Amino acid sequence: MKTQLWTDAVMTTRRINGAKVEVVLPAKTSTVQSSAHAIKKKRNNFSCGKMAQYSRVSGTVGLITLQNPPVNALSAAVRQGIVDTVKRALGDPEVKSVVICGQNGVFCGGADIREFGSPMAGPPLVPMIHAIEAAGKPVVAAIEGVALGGGLELALGCHYRIAHSKAKVGLPEVTLGLLPAAGGTQRLPRLTGLPAAIELITTGRHITAAEALKLSIVDQLTDQSGVDAAVKFAKSVAEQPLDARRVSNLPCPCPPDLDALFEAAMQKVRRRARGATAPVACVQALRAAATLPYARGMQREEELMATLFTSGQARALQYAFFAQRAAGRWSMPSGARWDGSEPKPVRKAAVVGLGTMGRGITVSLAQAGLSVIAVEAEEKPLKEAKQAISGMLQRGAARRGEAPALDLITYSQNLRAVADADLVIEAVFEDADLKKRLFRQLSAVCKPRAFLCTNTSSLDIDLLAAQSRLPELVVGMHFFAPAHVMKLLEVVYGSRSSPEAVATAVNLGKRMGKVGVAVGNCRGFVGNRMLSPYFEQGLFLLEEGATPESVDAALEEFGFAMGLFRMSDLSGIDVGWRVRKAEGLVQPGAAVRVRQGRRYSPLGDLLYEQGRFGQKTGRGWYRYDNSREATPDPWLHGFLEAYRARHGLAARRIDRREVLERCLYALINEGFRILEEGIAAGPEDVDVIYVLGYGWPKHRGGPMFYASMVGLTKISERLEYYQQAHPDVPYLQPCSLLRRLVASGSPPVHKWREIIKKTHSHL
Ligand code: COA
Ligand code: NAD
Repeated sequence: MKTQLWTDAVMTTRRINGAKVEVVLPAKTSTVQSSAHAIKKKRNNFSCGKMAQYSRVSGTVGLITLQNPPVNALSAAVRQGIVDTVKRALGDPEVKSVVICGQNGVFCGGADIREFGSPMAGPPLVPMIHAIEAAGKPVVAAIEGVALGGGLELALGCHYRIAHSKAKVGLPEVTLGLLPAAGGTQRLPRLTGLPAAIELITTGRHITAAEALKLSIVDQLTDQSGVDAAVKFAKSVAEQPLDARRVSNLPCPCPPDLDALFEAAMQKVRRRARGATAPVACVQALRAAATLPYARGMQREEELMATLFTSGQARALQYAFFAQRAAGRWSMPSGARWDGSEPKPVRKAAVVGLGTMGRGITVSLAQAGLSVIAVEAEEKPLKEAKQAISGMLQRGAARRGEAPALDLITYSQNLRAVADADLVIEAVFEDADLKKRLFRQLSAVCKPRAFLCTNTSSLDIDLLAAQSRLPELVVGMHFFAPAHVMKLLEVVYGSRSSPEAVATAVNLGKRMGKVGVAVGNCRGFVGNRMLSPYFEQGLFLLEEGATPESVDAALEEFGFAMGLFRMSDLSGIDVGWRVRKAEGLVQPGAAVRVRQGRRYSPLGDLLYEQGRFGQKTGRGWYRYDNSREATPDPWLHGFLEAYRARHGLAARRIDRREVLERCLYALINEGFRILEEGIAAGPEDVDVIYVLGYGWPKHRGGPMFYASMVGLTKISERLEYYQQAHPDVPYLQPCSLLRRLVASGSPPVHKWREIIKKTHSHL
């Protein structure tokens, strides 16, 4: 039998421009390919390479329409189409000015990300945009929908930009590990000034047309058809001189203290995304715009892009982009697909329990434009919740310059108020009996086909569904705190949940601006289940000689926004204690270090007994003296020494490598178990959960992508090594899916689903 061998991509470090950069060899994309979309609308006349169409309108205006659904990305064929149609328009003596637009009300979503990683084909963007800028006839960009990345760079090469008032523009390349390398870093600051360009390019933020007008990125807004307005405008500027309209001719306005500006910008990007190289390169390119003539600035932009393009970080971020979009394409182990079943419309939703989570969920629903019935059991908490929710809505609306959606919420103390809701989300205390009772009550008062959802973080969905008349309409909607901010939503399906219920919950999440990932029903679902061995390894490391600050430093240097002990202090040491207590693990006095047949660390329980709950009590793994700033605590160091002495544990020096390997590989191994059991449909789903919900550094793709970069063989070998050193920690044993993947030659991450599917079909 022939065994197919896959080679793991090799991640290596190179020094470029004095900075350490991770480079992946060979550079082969592992993106989840997106499906081709049908071109729905066609204009007549001349069509060039199918991807840019040319017509003459209004007698003297050459109209070029980009055609590459869904977002008219600048694929090789589109670029070729633009080159050809621009040439045609400029050569047509009847044409006095040119308009570039995109079909279906979308100007352009930028470079075609699906082409990254393949050898470059078709005409490059930079000379194409230069040729447009150098044209002797005015070229007007008609921006509808979005002009992002290369799309905005194309528009910046035009002489005028007319935008529809609902359009959005931006240079989001940094979010894909890149910089805007078709002149974006050189042209944008010439229009907006440096501070705004630094902010836009280093964050990749999409801005509204109104903000773009204020920043001089666009010249005019329209509420009518952007194309019609641009054609009219193009006629009006037909014979006007163009020199002052060529953005590359403009000086880059510089504030007096450039060094201070760039120093502050560099510090900010380093703080915001620890270890991410693209934001740093963006700042360097913008500095070139400020200090070098345009042509040399362009050279610098190109050099910096070359360092980023093949980097492991760009690859990881592009993987994350497609992973987020693939997360919705989920199928149940039975083969039923939620995306094949229609989500039911939800016009009115209800939230029961208005504590930390219920408030955030209510805000998020109202902000999405839904009518919400918000229910609390007692008068005082209801009043407090109403005040808090109104405040959150008002602050959010003020930030966005909108009116707050206060009128969409009806408050009640009576559960019967939810009777006409299409979907109910319960967020009462994490108490199985209380939730069971509530599900029985909801089943009695709700309309017959209402969906009943629970925000439980640990209870069995089937147990709650069993209380309902129609268990197929019950799913978990596991939001993350703060629920109106965090983008992740785990949609948990029980054994009887229907695909329609999952579809409805995922779809509602999407309306709320969340990425809904459908996951199976098990203890901790996906995110919290993987967190458990990660956290426990941290505790074991403390027992063996580490300090909270040494463990956190290693994880934060890896890229986590917060190390595990700082995170534990933030979410509350008491929360974990309650979960362990419910599982029968907590014993007062905490003398025993083996529980339920395996190694157990009672350190968290001991802190709980001391009243050290974390930030909320000012003391936890760290101390917090009237601030949220974590300060290493000598008391804790003494406590750890006494603990080790009591248990005869000799402290040893633990290096960064061991911290990372033990915490991260234990978490990754649990991720493989989750895939093996079909709790998550594929590695992309696990990665989306970790990046959006658990602070995993996005430029490392997610735990499963990271595992594929490190190499599955290495992960497996190191796990075995640690398992031999700690035989009383069974979860360090590489799980069978990991071993099987290693045995089949460590296929790249986008091939794992096939192997998992085969494994399931053999069972
Ligand atoms: N290249 C290739 N495909 C792209 C794309 C691009 N630049 N931008 C979007 N797509 C695809 C998505 O993968 C998705 O494909 P699928 O339906 O097969 O999953 C489809 O277009 C729709 O995108 P989605 O994000 O689901 O739609 P949306 O309406 O929520 O958002 C955008 C549209 C354009 C705002 C968003 O897709 C986006 O931000 N795209 C990236 C823009 C960018 O970074 N450009 C610079 C590239 S260097
Ligand atoms: P919380 O204690 O802040 O709020 C619970 C609220 O429910 C309280 O306001 C209480 O008055 C109300 N309540 C209790 N019984 C009620 C009843 N019968 N009818 C109406 N209201 C009732 O709790 P929380 O942190 O918001 O957690 C709520 C749920 O969300 C739990 O299941 C929890 O596991 C889950 N969750 C919490 C977080 C988090 O970070 N806090 C994250 C994800 C999920």
